[in-house]
Amino acid sequence: MVAQRLDGKVCAAQVEEELHLRIAACKEKGITPHLAVVIVGDDPASHVYVGSKVRACERLGIKSTHIELPADSTEEKVRDVIHTLNQQNDLHGILVQSPLPSHMDEEALTDLIDPAKDVDGFHPQNLGRLVQGRLDGMLPCTPSGVMRMLAWAGIETEGKTAVILGRSRIVGMPQSLLLGSKGIDSTVTVAHSRTKDTSALCASADILIAAVGRPEMVTADWVKEGAVVVDVGINRVDDSTRDRGWRLAGDVHPDVANKASWLSPVPGGVGPMTIAMLMENTVRATEQSNAD
Ligand code: GUN
Repeated sequence: MVAQRLDGKVCAAQVEEELHLRIAACKEKGITPHLAVVIVGDDPASHVYVGSKVRACERLGIKSTHIELPADSTEEKVRDVIHTLNQQNDLHGILVQSPLPSHMDEEALTDLIDPAKDVDGFHPQNLGRLVQGRLDGMLPCTPSGVMRMLAWAGIETEGKTAVILGRSRIVGMPQSLLLGSKGIDSTVTVAHSRTKDTSALCASADILIAAVGRPEMVTADWVKEGAVVVDVGINRVDDSTRDRGWRLAGDVHPDVANKASWLSPVPGGVGPMTIAMLMENTVRATEQSNAD
């Protein structure tokens, strides 16, 4: 079997198409959606992600404010920035790029973001709504992007067994809630670093979501014939055959394409979907602020 491509670029372009109309409607009312992206430090990958987010805003006519702080900034400085952004009436979304420098308490800072502007969906109020099964609020972008891509491809989820590799706050945990939610109805297992016999568990899954950040860890023998495999990983690996000396690799080995029924590519799979969902959350936050 050769897997069909879960093409995040094509799916994200469709999401953006729909957003154009909603953004135009906001602008007709005199309101321009506005997103602030805060980045602390000089992690190269984070700067690449933030650049993609800012470019998506430009494509869609969403105003963006890009705030860069040095790695040695104090946590209090970041707190002040968040407080100022919370109070800014013409601003609808706030995103603080993760990871923050190790001397900062990322969760404590997330708690300070106005939940109505929390376009990442990481605030306890938004995550709490997700735990309650309320899926109409700000949902974390990567897991909701995965769900949108599965729906776009017409993939059946009801009654399927889903294994999620990784229990992160940003991806694995919220992904498990979405896949197990009413209407999606998969039976979900979350595997993590202490899970026993992870490869056999993965090989039992109808739907396998890899989100551990280990290049090409999921090999073909970990995958059931015909499974749907979503690769959330984005890892830089050394590659002397490339001029730049590195290439991007997912968490899934390319040979899995010969076993899965669907496979998301890296790059061009989950990445564009994460950005599309961020744009959608920003538009939703704008519409809801306008409704008040
Ligand atoms: N770092 C990796 N993914 C994300 C994300 O979705 N949001 C933020 N804020 N930081 C990230």
